[in-house]
Amino acid sequence: MIKGLFITFEGGDGAGKTTLMDGILKTLTSRGFPVVKTREPGGTSLGEAVRQLVLQKREEILSPRAELCLFLASRAQHVFEVILPALNQGDIVLCDRFHDSSVAYQGIARGLGASEVAHMSSFIAEGLQPDLTFYLDVPPTVGLERVKGSRSEDRLESEEIAFHEKIRQAYLELQRNHPHRMKRLDGLKSSHEVYVEAMDILNQYVID
Ligand code: TYD
Repeated sequence: MIKGLFITFEGGDGAGKTTLMDGILKTLTSRGFPVVKTREPGGTSLGEAVRQLVLQKREEILSPRAELCLFLASRAQHVFEVILPALNQGDIVLCDRFHDSSVAYQGIARGLGASEVAHMSSFIAEGLQPDLTFYLDVPPTVGLERVKGSRSEDRLESEEIAFHEKIRQAYLELQRNHPHRMKRLDGLKSSHEVYVEAMDILNQYVID
């Protein structure tokens, strides 16, 4: 029986997830909640090694299926080693990307099939689903421009704009299909406005 709360943050590259997560982490911690902040790919020592492998630019074209398996390997270890133990002891887990990233990026944008990827991800995550997902929506041109200023692009960020547009459409469709779990936030608003909207929603789940 899971006692904690599992919250994931999704969006295209440069949507503002990190800023939002940091704000929520600070608030929940100051209210005395036990909070774990983590990310995918990554979150464990194995996951961080996979992250390096999957995000670095490569000479060869990475097979979309191989790419999916790397993200899922990271997730399997993450769920097993970090997320489930934290939820079982009653923590709030804030996770930067999870299942919906695989469905949007590999299932839809890479064309592997949304339902196939959803099944595989669900299997490797031991059936664990987020209680709440914040989807930060920004047009890809805006998101990528933000990323460009801060650091060099990784392998996925350097994909053409049409790829990122597909990801946005994929997320919007996921949100329409899961309106209760997945909440869209307008990433064009100021980071403070986005934070206030997110906290309004979150306060329905966490009661001091
Ligand atoms: P990251 O630097 O964490 O990007 P961001 O700051 O935008 O979250 O890189 C993670 C990248 O991996 C991002 O481009 C999305 C991609 N990704 C997938 O394609 N599939 C997945 O299942 C996950 C978890 C991430």
